[in-house]
Amino acid sequence: TGMFTYDPGFLSTASCQSSITYIDGDKGELLYRGYPIEQLATHCDYLDTCHLLLNGELPNAQERTEFHKLVTNHTMVNEQMQFFLRGFRRDAHPMAILTGLVGAMSAFYHDSTDINNPEHRHVAAIRLIAKMPTLVAMAYKYKIGQPYIYPKNSLSYAGNFLRMMFGTPCEEYEVNPVLERALDRIFILHADHEQNASTSTVRLCASSGTNPFAAIAAGVACLWGPAHGGANEACLNMLEDIQAQGGVSKVGEFMEKVKDKNSGVKLMGFGHRVYKNYDPRAKLMQETCNEVLVELGLENDPLFKLAKELEKIALEDDYFVQRKLYPNVDFYSGIVQRAIGIPVNLFTGIFALARTVGWIAQLNEMIGDPEYKIGRPRQLFTGSERRDVKPLA
Ligand code: CMC
Repeated sequence: TGMFTYDPGFLSTASCQSSITYIDGDKGELLYRGYPIEQLATHCDYLDTCHLLLNGELPNAQERTEFHKLVTNHTMVNEQMQFFLRGFRRDAHPMAILTGLVGAMSAFYHDSTDINNPEHRHVAAIRLIAKMPTLVAMAYKYKIGQPYIYPKNSLSYAGNFLRMMFGTPCEEYEVNPVLERALDRIFILHADHEQNASTSTVRLCASSGTNPFAAIAAGVACLWGPAHGGANEACLNMLEDIQAQGGVSKVGEFMEKVKDKNSGVKLMGFGHRVYKNYDPRAKLMQETCNEVLVELGLENDPLFKLAKELEKIALEDDYFVQRKLYPNVDFYSGIVQRAIGIPVNLFTGIFALARTVGWIAQLNEMIGDPEYKIGRPRQLFTGSERRDVKPLA
């Protein structure tokens, strides 16, 4: 292959050096800045995790208060943004709307546009983390025709999001602490995942020196696909399809289709490029799923039963065992979100909201690296040799 290594899909090319997130795919281990995801999900909240990813350390008590204050100071979005939002069809996919809204932030916040200026990057980072929940909730309210609910800064990050999603101006909204904790955990589990497709997209996009909001919008666009962040939506649609066809009794038939390479059917929420063992996030998600279903009196939720049955069969089936296919984070996250009341087509938006901090931390790391260069892959050319134009006349 001449001077270049041909590596489609980057199976064996490291695109950068990074000190943020570590995955041991064989062990099924995930560390943010050295801390195991299980401990972060148990002892910290999402904003602690954001502080850790952005600054390298968990906050002490004073830093925690200051960071919470800083983020909550930025939760409102420019009032003009709602007019931009109104230009969309109400039946547009929320990810289409979110890609647009995040990109549009570059048109609204003119004092945080220089990606090479650390102060600008810092302000852009806080704005994005603070405003993503507001934007996701606005996209939802727009879709269902309800008034936007302004953020309430006395609530937690997750509590505020729940209120903006499900509150109305007509009555007080009581945040359910179990749902609040579950959502916060979903955010923690999705906060970063090293050089996945959307993160690599953000790095590549930012490497041209573009506006930081535009670079994050590129990440949102990439995340949308069903092989990446869109898998939670695809997974829930799959479970609903199987349920509609008869549920648990149809699992065997469905699995035969999955194993038939010509069917084009995949077991969504299974398999991962890096994890060749149980995704540690899937374990935590299954736990949270249990808690939420019990809290809401949905212990007998047929989709949860169906998912557990699919998992049980897959983990014992040669096809999956040989290929080391295990449940990934998306396998149970959809069931939790659906129980909370989040519509299926907003699942990937929740993922984008949570992943924003990871994208920013990775972008900052790259820009701060003295060795960084514009990303510019090479190609192996397979087209026509030089030839001459024959004028038509
Ligand atoms: N169902 C059935 N077969 C599968 C699946 C699946 N979900 N995943 C992989 N395989 C098979 C695949 O067909 C291949 O078989 P063979 O070796 O016979 O050709 C083998 O397992 C290896 O898979 P691969 O496609 O080469 O692996 P990859 O690293 O290119 O793809 C993946 C990883 C996540 C795209 C893929 O496993 C997949 O499409 N899974 C379903 C979608 C999904 O759940 N995505 C979420 C990923 S986690 C969250 C995120 O990153 O956003």
